[in-house]
Formats: sequence, structure tokens, C-alpha cells
Amino acid sequence: MTTKTTSNEQIHLAVQERYGRIAQDFQSELTVLGQNATCCDPDSGADCCGSDLYDVDLSQLPADVTGLSLGCGDPIAIASLEPGQTVLDLGSGGGIDCFLAAERVGPTGHVIGVDMTPAMLEKANRNKAKLGVEHVEFRQGQIEALPVDGNSVDVIISNCVINLSPDKTAVFQEAFRVLKPGGRLAVSDMVTRGKFAAQERADMSAWAGCITGAEDVAEMAAWMRAAGFSQVSIQKKDEVDVELADVAPHVGPAQIFSARITAVKPQATQS
Ligand SMILES: C[S@@+](CC[C@H](N)C(=O)[O-])C[C@H]1O[C@@H](n2cnc3c(N)ncnc32)[C@H](O)[C@@H]1O
Repeated sequence: MTTKTTSNEQIHLAVQERYGRIAQDFQSELTVLGQNATCCDPDSGADCCGSDLYDVDLSQLPADVTGLSLGCGDPIAIASLEPGQTVLDLGSGGGIDCFLAAERVGPTGHVIGVDMTPAMLEKANRNKAKLGVEHVEFRQGQIEALPVDGNSVDVIISNCVINLSPDKTAVFQEAFRVLKPGGRLAVSDMVTRGKFAAQERADMSAWAGCITGAEDVAEMAAWMRAAGFSQVSIQKKDEVDVELADVAPHVGPAQIFSARITAVKPQATQS
């Protein structure tokens, strides 16, 4: 019988295998902005990520950074970062959002990227050296067990990563633990209305391609609130006037989309 732990391990391995391969195969000279890889499995038919994610001008970043952008949104656009802040990026990949965050928090701030895939961390550290930014660091670890001190982070960002986790409850608990009271979560991620069938969720290629690990918005909001977060908000990336954090779970096949997810760790909390 497959245990929960083994199953979680299998998902981590499938995800690590996919992103390790992408990092190893990536060659910036073959990749130009706008033709970069996306997080989504190209065979899935899901039109979820797009290639034009960022509102800001990325031309100051090298192709080694922009070409390895695998997100589904622009978390920096919703993070309201300020100089001097400590920022944590869950699943930092090649580092694009860490480098954008570093510009905003400035040299008095600090940016930590956490990723579990060694080849991605290698790319991110090479990009860091190329850009010469001292206040960014990359740490190896899983977002379900963050290698980060409690109550130490002002803002957590993440771009198309939480959907890949087999234990989203642990991710939100860990995010809550490491945030300072009053700290904020600003995440771009794939979510659904409705649920994928067990058979679809067992397809590791679709899971690692940012499709079938995505969860219903009602479930996501419930896990975030259970972890202690307040002011939970989930909005479609392209329909930000509709609040989905309070909707009832949707019955029926999963409809997947990219969302903006924000929340706050309350000031008065015992963590
Ligand atoms: C779709 S890519 C997104 C990378 C980056 N955020 C971006 O926007 O380019 C997912 C990244 O998250 C990492 N990742 C996935 N699941 C993880 C987990 N449970 N713990 C740590 N890193 C994880 C992968 O190694 C990969 O680098």
C-alpha cells in the first residue's frame, strides 16, 4: 500500500526531475524573451500561463534570468515591497522574482529564495553572480519545511509553485511561521474551480506541469485561514474585481486558471 509520505515523496521527485531537466537543458542563447518556457505542461492544452507575465520592463535583466522564467503571474506587482524589507520567494527557480524584489527592497533589504532542485539553485546562483547583487541568497529546501527562522520575513512571494506541493497545508503553516506579525503573502499560482479526478492527479507529468496539483479556491482559502492568515483574497489574474476566497467549493470538473493570492499574518498572534 502506498503511504501518504511515499506519495508526497514521489510528487517531490517528479517535480524535481522536471525542473532539474529544464534548468540543465536551458541555454540562454537559444531562448529569447517572449519565447521562454512556461510552467504549464505544453501537452495539457491548458491556456494558463502565457508568456507576457510582467508589467515591468525586464530588459535590464539578462536572458539567463528572463528566459528561465517559469511563473504564471507577477507576484511583485501585488507585493507592495518597500526598501529595507526581508522577502522570501517560495520556489525561486532561476531567480527572476528574487532579482526584481531585490531592486525594490534595495541594499538595506534582504531576499531569500528557497528551491528544492539543485540544478535550479545552481542557475540562480550563477545569475546572482552575473548581476552582482549581494542582498539575494538562495537556499536549498522544501517549501513544506522552510529553512528559514520564524517571525523573520516581511513579505512572502511565490510564482507558480504552491500548486506543485503535495502538502499545501504544511506550506501555509510554514509561511505563517516564518512571517513577522503583520507580514504578508503575495502569490501568483494556478488554482481551480472544481476538482481534478484522482486519476488525473495521479498523472505525475500533468502534476509537475503545474496542472493537476492545482486545488479549488475554496479549499485553498480554508487552508490559509486554518494556518492563521487573515484578509485572505484569491482573484483571477485577469479578473481582479471578482473575489473568490469566500465562494463555496465548486462541484464539477476542474477549471484551471492563474490567480493572485494575498493574505496577512495578524499582528496579535502566538506563533
Ligand atoms: C514552475 S517553476 C517556477 C520557478 C519560479 N518561481 C519562476 O517564476 O520562474 C517551480 C519551481 O519550484 C520548485 N519547487 C517545486 N516544488 C517545490 C517544493 N515543494 N519545495 C521547494 N521548491 C519547489 C521547482 O524546483 C522549480 O524551480
